[in-house]
Amino acid sequence: MSYPYQITSLAQYHVDYRKSIEDPEGFWAAVADNFLWRKKWNRVLDWNFSEPKVEWFAGAKLNITENCIDRHLATMADKPAIIWEPNNPEERVRTVTYARLHKRVCQFAQVLKNNGVKKGDRVCIYMGMVPELAYAVLGCARIGAIHSVIFGGFSAQSIADRLEDANVEFIVTCDGAYRGGKDIPLKSIIDDALIGNKTVKRVIVYTRTRTPVSMIKGRDVWWEDEMDIAEEQVEKNGSISFPAEEMDAEDPLFILYTSGSTGKPKGVVHSSAGYMVWTNYTFVNVFQYKPGDVFFCTADIGWITGHSYIVYGPLSAGATSLMFEGIPTWPDAGRFWDIVDKHKVNTLYTAPTAIRSLMSYGLDPLKGKDLSSLTVLGTVGEPINEEAWHWYDENIGKQKCPIVDTWWQTETGGIMMSNIAGITPSKPGWATLPLPGVQPVLLDEKGNIIEGSDFAAECLKASPPVGGGGLEGAGNLCIKAPWPAIIRTTWGDHERCRTNYFATYPNLYFTGDGALKDAAGNYRITGRVDDVLNVSGHRIGTAEVENAINIHAGVVESAVVGYPHEVKGQGIYAYVIYNGHHGDEDMRRQDILQTVTRVIGAIARPDKIQFVTGLPKTRSGKIMRRILRKIAEGEMQNLGDTSTLLDPGVVEEIKQGKL
Ligand code: WTA
Repeated sequence: MSYPYQITSLAQYHVDYRKSIEDPEGFWAAVADNFLWRKKWNRVLDWNFSEPKVEWFAGAKLNITENCIDRHLATMADKPAIIWEPNNPEERVRTVTYARLHKRVCQFAQVLKNNGVKKGDRVCIYMGMVPELAYAVLGCARIGAIHSVIFGGFSAQSIADRLEDANVEFIVTCDGAYRGGKDIPLKSIIDDALIGNKTVKRVIVYTRTRTPVSMIKGRDVWWEDEMDIAEEQVEKNGSISFPAEEMDAEDPLFILYTSGSTGKPKGVVHSSAGYMVWTNYTFVNVFQYKPGDVFFCTADIGWITGHSYIVYGPLSAGATSLMFEGIPTWPDAGRFWDIVDKHKVNTLYTAPTAIRSLMSYGLDPLKGKDLSSLTVLGTVGEPINEEAWHWYDENIGKQKCPIVDTWWQTETGGIMMSNIAGITPSKPGWATLPLPGVQPVLLDEKGNIIEGSDFAAECLKASPPVGGGGLEGAGNLCIKAPWPAIIRTTWGDHERCRTNYFATYPNLYFTGDGALKDAAGNYRITGRVDDVLNVSGHRIGTAEVENAINIHAGVVESAVVGYPHEVKGQGIYAYVIYNGHHGDEDMRRQDILQTVTRVIGAIARPDKIQFVTGLPKTRSGKIMRRILRKIAEGEMQNLGDTSTLLDPGVVEEIKQGKL
């Protein structure tokens, strides 16, 4: 496969960026021409941010799995699509060729059909990182069902909420999942989630750990049995086929729940065509993928990074995607380096939190590991500190591999800002330049665009056409115009999508992030400016954690803030007013942690819980988080204006009791 839209020089980046601003429709039509369409579009782009309504390639018909699989079969049937590295290094590696992937996805699509799944139905997928998870995702896409993958770390209660929100009738899960030294009983968690549920009709269970599971007659079926039946149905005259459903460009492809600053997680909805074009375009460009390269994204498919850069981006580009079941530190902290060595990985794409965690083990785990196959390194999910950046550069990339710092979000579908490996310059800690099609601007506190922060405008002004320029500044990061994979709606509640992303600043998409811009046009993401935490690269809303803590019987009220954490990036600090009489402080902490684990999942457990008798509030009753954040950060002196506090005394007490 070749990629005519691959940017191969700095000059071309500038030209392409400019083209994408001056003539977005022409630019994206030319990129989209390289995909497989049942029918081409009537119109490339139609949009307004006030509803919001965004349509890319309206009128086009396609199926994303034909782009990810079928179109590669003529030339790449025997090429590995997925290389699967199991949790236990002693276990056999599985290599799934494009031909095998085709067969399995067709089979699983047939399984879904046999079990009554139709186009538009929602299918919840709660599985470990096994190839069958990819088959399940793609099987849904093949019949036009909307997948909603839930990360294996979420609790039964979280799953139940998501099942209800999307009215889910079908679930695909595993008996259990291996993660390092642990077996996670996925099916049993699903069973708990289904207590009282009235909509789920079928649960398909793949056997991974052979943990005992309860199988309910009429509801639960085994993956293996269903696949056997389907195999005969899709096999005709020695070849395999299951006709892909013809989808409209704007038909939803999937829902992925993510945390915001208020309420329960919302279901971010992505479309078929725009998402496909964007994940492919960004994959091929940012990482400078070359046919034959082995691409290793260490994310879990339960997060957007796994959706876009393990499954859809790489496979639509005919790439070889390495999928890893385990964790970076088990059986030891050399696990990633063993995998790179063993599979001759060319690109490693991981999170700063993983890098910092591996750094803490020193250089011993690297001894004897041949990392010479690596050509490109990447990071995602949170700002990378310079120390981690340099460690990655020196010890992993041996100062020969460009590091791409990719900034994006669940809502953006794919990478928005990043240096392009080896093409545009890197700057440690900076996501650098927007990709073609992305028009960032920075807003000040009053909601005005900061002079010189509008990248696209600066780019158009410049002659010769070089991007960037403009003044330096800091502000809230917004995007001025739609790119193909922009969020389309939040499931079941379009108004929520509008208020969350398009209402803060009229006619702009608001990211929730703060950013700096330098005079060369580079952007540095400084972190969330809303009440969303980023813990080990996972998004968690403070309100969500507070709600979970408040469910605990002895808790009167709580306030949750983030604080800098050496490995996780941010840790969770909870201030809790407790009024029970049960156990000592330590016991109460354990109980609260258990409650949070039940309500959200272990990923949301606070790192610190401080018991207080009051919280700093304004006269109107609003918690002054700014003060709590400062104290959690260890900043005791400059707490800012405290004159509006109802009871300044509580601040003193909180300072004294800081953990
Ligand atoms: C943060 C993950 C700094 C940011 C793909 C964003 C980053 C949130 C970077 C989205 C980066 C992601 N530098 N911060 N390179 N990448 N973020 O939805 O705060 O899980 O808003 O998507 O992660 O997290 P999400």
